[in-house]
Amino acid sequence: MCGIVGYVGHQSAGPILLEGLQRLEYRGYDSSGIAVIDRDGALAVMKREGKLRDLQAAIQQMPSGATGIGHTRWATHGQPSDRNAHPHASSSGDVIVVQNGIVENYRELRAELQDQLDAEGRSWHSDTDTEVIPELISKELIAGRSFEDALAYAVGRLRGANAIAAAHRGDPDRIYAARKGSAGGIVIGYGDGEMFVASDLPALLPHTTTVYHLEDGDIAVIDDRSVRIRQENRTSFQPTPVQVDLDPVAIARGPYRHFMLKEIHEQPRALSDTIRGRARLEPPSALADDLELPIETLRSIQRVLVIGMGTSLHAAMIGRWWIEQVAGIPADFDNASEFRFRAPLLGPSTLVVAVTQSGETIDTLGAMNHVRQHWGAPQVAVTNVEGSEATRQADASIILRCGPEVGVASTKTFVGSLAALYLLACRIGHAQGRLSPHVLTDRLEQLLTAPSLVERGIQRAERCAEIAQRFGTASNFLVLGRGIEYPLAMEAALKCKEISYVHAEGYAAGEMKHGPIALLDQEFPVIALAPRGPLFDKMTSAIQQVSARRAPVIAIGDEGDKDLSELVDHFIGVPPAPPLLTPFSLTPVIQLLAYQIALTRGLDIDQPRNLAKTVTVE
Ligand code: G6P
Repeated sequence: MCGIVGYVGHQSAGPILLEGLQRLEYRGYDSSGIAVIDRDGALAVMKREGKLRDLQAAIQQMPSGATGIGHTRWATHGQPSDRNAHPHASSSGDVIVVQNGIVENYRELRAELQDQLDAEGRSWHSDTDTEVIPELISKELIAGRSFEDALAYAVGRLRGANAIAAAHRGDPDRIYAARKGSAGGIVIGYGDGEMFVASDLPALLPHTTTVYHLEDGDIAVIDDRSVRIRQENRTSFQPTPVQVDLDPVAIARGPYRHFMLKEIHEQPRALSDTIRGRARLEPPSALADDLELPIETLRSIQRVLVIGMGTSLHAAMIGRWWIEQVAGIPADFDNASEFRFRAPLLGPSTLVVAVTQSGETIDTLGAMNHVRQHWGAPQVAVTNVEGSEATRQADASIILRCGPEVGVASTKTFVGSLAALYLLACRIGHAQGRLSPHVLTDRLEQLLTAPSLVERGIQRAERCAEIAQRFGTASNFLVLGRGIEYPLAMEAALKCKEISYVHAEGYAAGEMKHGPIALLDQEFPVIALAPRGPLFDKMTSAIQQVSARRAPVIAIGDEGDKDLSELVDHFIGVPPAPPLLTPFSLTPVIQLLAYQIALTRGLDIDQPRNLAKTVTVE
């Protein structure tokens, strides 16, 4: 959600913090701010509504200081504005705080702190929940506690999940960080005579690859050379950092106009990397060395539930399909935010698979927590971020190898998740003896063609641009699919909403005649996902019904499918794929269509309005 950075060292903190925020801007981008403290304890705070470039101009005027914290915001409490942007200072002006997460009991805490403010003749200066944190700390400082104790006390008073960075004028050589619950990570980067703090690795990589991830309940006291972690039970230790293996070049946009476009083009590579060594043919095996679930667990599974949110939910829907069709066992999918509040019945021997590219989505983590507490069912996380909270909560993880994804709309992590789910289906089917070596070989050989299916789909970029030119101004789209293409229709509609701001609905083609058909007329284009397969004839019937209402049809089908191309108004050919693998051939085209429509509308594709890449609030 929001992005947090911190710095303590010998350089001017402002530009370093700003650069870090630029690398985290995908987490939130409605306002931002930076606070720096110089050696004498002089504090300067600069905050701006809008994109970081607005802050960039403002910080030129800022005095320098070698200690500071910064924040890029995705508003929860209070509209985006200069006054609601972080950092927030205590009314005493001594304490500054940035936060990611929600202080669920902020009203209660505001009421409690009101007397103190009234006595001082001060008032709240923002509408945010965060502002109670510096105030709580300040109150404890006045009562004589150390900053570390005051921060620990304040964090202990908060309800909800919070990631915090803080600093104090009276202690200009240190910054502090705290993590409570699953409000996204906090990672500390070790430099040479300087230390960094960030919500996520991309902000640290230009400076260091030596890092330490805070655990739930940790408070970090950081100076230019060392870190001390204080845990909830008040014990302290010096953490041992680890080396991360991430290439800073991977987070550069290179020659591409947008990160999203770059990441669409990276998909064949992301897929090959994710599959590499996990789909072996002689003898055939899937995920042989990569899934740390005991074989007895795999053998005893009687049902699989796949959960996720957003694009990951659509991957989960396709994963459900594969687990039924490939592994041959009952499977279902669920929206993680609905699942846990339904008091779901899991039954014995259910495996829960949580799909989350970030590994931080609070709805998905909440569902995983529910499963652990109420059912104790085994859980597998499918995520792109090693060491993320989802991997900690799960019994086993399949880590995608997609590299960092910066574009807010998920692309390469979607196909990566698909590959992981397909491999998992093969693994379970194999463990349960439902896939003969011959069939398993066949399935894996098919999966190995996925990178090239995606590659060839990407080559349809120009055709997608032509269609986007023609329909870029449409106000609505209906996207139809059947079978395994139904979740893709939903994903196509989601992409249109996310980056093109077009109203789009993804529907199962068979459902269209039960309502959505009433919407159709010449102004309402319909995208039909219609590769050849068992449901092709039913799909063409739906297309006929659309055409009869004079709505323009854009069909995405197999290259060279003359019957289909003659039936519809516009046709985009993709490489023919085996029936279970059409998600790989169709995905790049639905992504490129949405991308091109957004481009014709002149929109901010990598940072669409109101969205954030990592959603750590409910
Ligand atoms: C946000 C992102 C989406 C993503 C969803 C789930 O809404 O903008 O791209 O699909 O969160 O995220 P996750 O990290 O759990 O896959």
